[in-house]
Amino acid sequence: MTYRVMLRSVFRCLRTNLVAGQRSMSQSSLAGKVAIVTASTDGIGLAAAQALGKRGAHVVVSSRQQANVDKAVALLQGQSITVTGTTCNVGKGEDREKLVQMTLDQFGGIDILVSNAAVNPFFGNTMDSTEEVWDKILSVNVKAAVLMTQLVVPHMEKRGGGNVIFVSSVGGYQPMQGLGPYCVSKTALLGLTRALAPELAPSNIRVNCVAPGIIRTRFSSGLWENEDIMDEFKKKLCIKRIGEPEEIGGVIAFLCSDEASYITGETIAPTGGMAGRL
Ligand SMILES: NC(=O)c1ccc[n+]([C@@H]2O[C@H](COP(=O)([O-])OP(=O)(O)OC[C@H]3O[C@@H](n4cnc5c(N)ncnc54)[C@H](OP(=O)(O)O)[C@@H]3O)[C@@H](O)[C@H]2O)c1
Repeated sequence: MTYRVMLRSVFRCLRTNLVAGQRSMSQSSLAGKVAIVTASTDGIGLAAAQALGKRGAHVVVSSRQQANVDKAVALLQGQSITVTGTTCNVGKGEDREKLVQMTLDQFGGIDILVSNAAVNPFFGNTMDSTEEVWDKILSVNVKAAVLMTQLVVPHMEKRGGGNVIFVSSVGGYQPMQGLGPYCVSKTALLGLTRALAPELAPSNIRVNCVAPGIIRTRFSSGLWENEDIMDEFKKKLCIKRIGEPEEIGGVIAFLCSDEASYITGETIAPTGGMAGRL
C-alpha cells in the first residue's frame, strides 16, 4: 500500500467514526426538551432530573417541601442545568395542576414526564393492612401517576410527541415480605405502562417504566442500613452491591432519548441482577 492510499484510508476511517459519534451524540441528546420529574428533590428523582438536564433538557423539579425544592434547584443550577422548581404533593389535584401550569408558563410546553413519587406508610402482613393504608398508597403511587399523565399528554401532543416514564420497583414483580401493599402498587405501574403504551403510540408518545432494585436513598435506608438484611439481599444479587441513584437516572434519560425510539410499553429492571431472584 502506498503512503497516499494509507493516508486516504485513515482519513476515511476517522470521518466515519466522527459521523457515527455525532449521530450517537445527537440521538442521546435531549436539548430543548422540557421534563417534569415528580418527587425530584432527592434520591432517584433528583438523579433523573440531573441525567435529563445533563443531556440538555429543561427540567422542572418538585416535592412537598419548599426547602427541598430550593436546595435541588440550586444544586442543578450549579451544574449548569436549566431548571426551575415548585412544591407539589402528587396526591393533591391542585398541586398537580399547579406543577403543569408552572411548567407551561416557564418553558412553553412539555415533552417528558417522569412519574417518580411513591409512599409506603405500612410494614407488615398484607392481611393486617387497613383501608386507610390502601387509600394512601394507591392514591399517591398509582392514581396520581395516571392523573399526572392525563394532565401532560395534551401538551405532549401539541409538541408532536413525548415520553412518559413510571418508576416502579423490583418488588412489583415479586412482593417483598412486609411490603405487600407497596409492592402491589408497583405491580400496578407495570400494568399501567402496558395499558397506556398502545393508547398513546398514535400520538407519538412512548410509555416505559423502570423497576429498580435496592438503591441507596433515604426511602430504602431501612434496608441498606441493616447489615443482616443486606447480607441476605446480596446473596441474591449478581452485582454484589446496592445501586446508586445515578444508575437509575441514566436509564431514565436513555428511555427518553431517541436511542430508545423503538421501545414502548416496556419495563427495564436495573437491579444488579436481582429480578426474579427474590
Ligand atoms: N430506593 C430504592 O431502593 C427504590 C427501589 C425501587 C423503587 N424505588 C422507587 O423510587 C422512587 C423514588 O424513591 P427514592 O428512593 O428516590 O426516595 P427518596 O430518596 O426518599 O426521595 C423521595 C422524594 O420524594 C419526595 N416526595 C415524597 N412524597 C412525595 C409526594 N407525596 N409528592 C411529591 N413528592 C414526594 C421527597 O421530597 P419531600 O419530602 O420534600 O416531599 C423526595 O424528594 C419511588 O417511587 C420508590 O418507590 C426506590
